[in-house]
Amino acid sequence: MCFLSRLAICGRLLTTTSRSVPVSILLNHATQTATQPRFLENGREYYANWANTYPYPCDDVENDRLDCQHHAWYHIALGGRYHLATLRNVPGLRILDVGYGTGIWAMDVKNEYPNAIITAIDIGDAQPAMNREGQPVDYGVDFRSGVDFTLDDWGLQDGTFDFIHCAMLCGSVPDWQIFVSRVTR
Ligand SMILES: C[S@@+](CC[C@H](N)C(=O)[O-])C[C@H]1O[C@@H](n2cnc3c(N)ncnc32)[C@H](O)[C@@H]1O
Repeated sequence: MCFLSRLAICGRLLTTTSRSVPVSILLNHATQTATQPRFLENGREYYANWANTYPYPCDDVENDRLDCQHHAWYHIALGGRYHLATLRNVPGLRILDVGYGTGIWAMDVKNEYPNAIITAIDIGDAQPAMNREGQPVDYGVDFRSGVDFTLDDWGLQDGTFDFIHCAMLCGSVPDWQIFVSRVTR
């Protein structure tokens, strides 16, 4: 089954399972702008600067996989919820997404909490930069590409976030104890 068919099924399910139509269902990741250097191996693209630490590809096929996974987890399995923790929807709520992938979670959460300040870090640059008409779009998320969470400096102040989301990072984190201590500092 092709990606669009799967997405259409997710879309139909959304009408019964989700509280509102998420931004992500409207996106097409052909609109990303590559800023991080890549190399080709066996027909797949990889981030050149992180070839030794991040084993997954970073091409359209991978982005589609990540988006499908997002719909499966949050829209289908969790019924349209993006987190299970209790979050108070107050102005200035600060949320961090670590390893944002295509940015789909951060954008959906911004849609749900328009007054939240959302920062997202990743080594990659797979977030959409333009809409389908080729116009630059500001999704209201502070996407910071080129930030390596295996290093100590994430360019962020300690203790500033109310909620930190880290999803699907298996295979990306060399030492979970160090990672968790950086996330919670
Ligand atoms: C499997 S994807 C998961 C993406 C997203 N969290 C999701 O659930 O769809 C892993 C993400 O972690 C990012 N990543 C891997 N190693 C990283 C590192 N050392 N520092 C920052 N981001 C990293 C990758 O670029 C990729 O976007």
